[in-house]
Amino acid sequence: MRVCVIGTGYVGLVTGVCLAHIGHNVICVDNNEEKVKLMKSGQSPIFEPGLSELMQSSIQAGRIEFTTDLAAGVDHGEILFIAVGTPPLPTGESDTRYVEAVARGIGANLHKGYKVIVNKSTVPIGSGDWVRMIVLDGMAERQKSLVGAGGGSEAPAIEAQFDVVSNPEFLREGSAVYDTFNPDRIVLGSNSSRAIALMQELYTPIVERQYAEEKALPPVPVVVTDLSSAEMIKYAANAFLATKISFINEVANICDRVGADVTQVAKGIGLDSRIGNKFLQAGIGWGGSCFPKDVSALVHTADDYGYEAQLLKAAVSVNQRQRLIAVEKLQQVLKILKGKTVGLLGLTFKPDTDDMRDAPALILIESLNRLGARVKAYDPLVSQTGLRHGLTGVHVETDPDRLADGCDALVLVTDWAQFKTLDYAKMARLMNSPVIIDGRNFLDRQALEELGFQYVGIGH
Ligand SMILES: NC(=O)c1ccc[n+]([C@@H]2O[C@H](COP(=O)([O-])OP(=O)(O)OC[C@H]3O[C@@H](n4cnc5c(N)ncnc54)[C@H](O)[C@@H]3O)[C@@H](O)[C@H]2O)c1
Repeated sequence: MRVCVIGTGYVGLVTGVCLAHIGHNVICVDNNEEKVKLMKSGQSPIFEPGLSELMQSSIQAGRIEFTTDLAAGVDHGEILFIAVGTPPLPTGESDTRYVEAVARGIGANLHKGYKVIVNKSTVPIGSGDWVRMIVLDGMAERQKSLVGAGGGSEAPAIEAQFDVVSNPEFLREGSAVYDTFNPDRIVLGSNSSRAIALMQELYTPIVERQYAEEKALPPVPVVVTDLSSAEMIKYAANAFLATKISFINEVANICDRVGADVTQVAKGIGLDSRIGNKFLQAGIGWGGSCFPKDVSALVHTADDYGYEAQLLKAAVSVNQRQRLIAVEKLQQVLKILKGKTVGLLGLTFKPDTDDMRDAPALILIESLNRLGARVKAYDPLVSQTGLRHGLTGVHVETDPDRLADGCDALVLVTDWAQFKTLDYAKMARLMNSPVIIDGRNFLDRQALEELGFQYVGIGH
């Protein structure tokens, strides 16, 4: 099928590349010329395991192209994905201006035939109908300009038809390609059976697990709903996961006080099939580009309807406190932080991604700077890329030994796999005092203590 994906960030580029890989004909549109230039040369502007390889093979097979020309993309696609960002506003609402610009642009470029417009961006509940309205506005503006341009009443009427589908995305950065081919479910919200049928056809190879790791599993469940329910499913899923992490962090803080070990508690409760063992790792709180903004947006939507989402607000405030737990623990061990040097192991909000949006490390850096500490960091990706140039208040080192050199304490911020096997014996020798705050309960306490480290976990 012919597909156009507008917005080539973590979601759009992965969606476009994966759809091309399963045989569709894809044009990806982005208004960032630099990015498009890079993608045309076969390079991915983001780090996502497996993405570059698939991107290059799809380019070679002639199944994917990149452009800044929205009109060309709209003309090409039977299915048009909107996958632009919806960052948070200071009020907590989503900033939908990029979605609006794209919807208007689609409307202004629809000529004839039938198109499915798919909201893949996470958008406030009710956005499906709003997108329809904006697309219609775009069409009307174009019709007006055709009339004004000399066509007069003779100007041909735009005969294009379209339906809007909400198709929320559940991929996780760091395993986005895997998640696209191995989803737990696909959610399609629309009031048009014609649009749903086309979306089901588009996703057939994925639903039938033709590209999945475990091909023998039953087909991927497709949940067909109305528009607002699909939009709500995305927010509810992220709000639940964020709340689950805040829950275990709260339990960890109580464990710290009573002398229990949250890792054992999490194991004990996680084996209960009603609870499950995922998202029960206590640590320094959730961050990234999705959880904080999606939970805030849902709280805000509830507020708009006169409902106070108390549980969600509590999940947010537990998280805000948790993000500073490493500072609290550093103060317990080092007492005064002024004049001390703290080394951060990891900067990205999770391993295997280069995404720094709302990463817990950023708040840690700010807070440590405010308390007069010098902050250094080493991150397997950030240390190697231009990303570090945008960071302030932290000196990014090129290897773990340089990081350890002269540090009064280390804080493990991101659970990168390679941090399990660093030469901690050497690092301990290079430090002023071998203290490590394990912000993800990720390292081997006993092994580190045997090397002379003072190890401090989170509820562990
Ligand atoms: N990142 C994730 O893990 C994730 C997961 C699920 C859902 N989502 C949602 O998906 C959406 C996209 O997120 P993302 O992380 O991929 O965003 P992103 O910021 O990485 O990418 C957005 C892209 O859209 C482009 N863009 C902006 N305005 C444009 C326009 N007018 N025309 C063409 N391109 C334009 C930008 O240049 C950028 O490349 C958001 O709503 C987000 O909440 C993200």
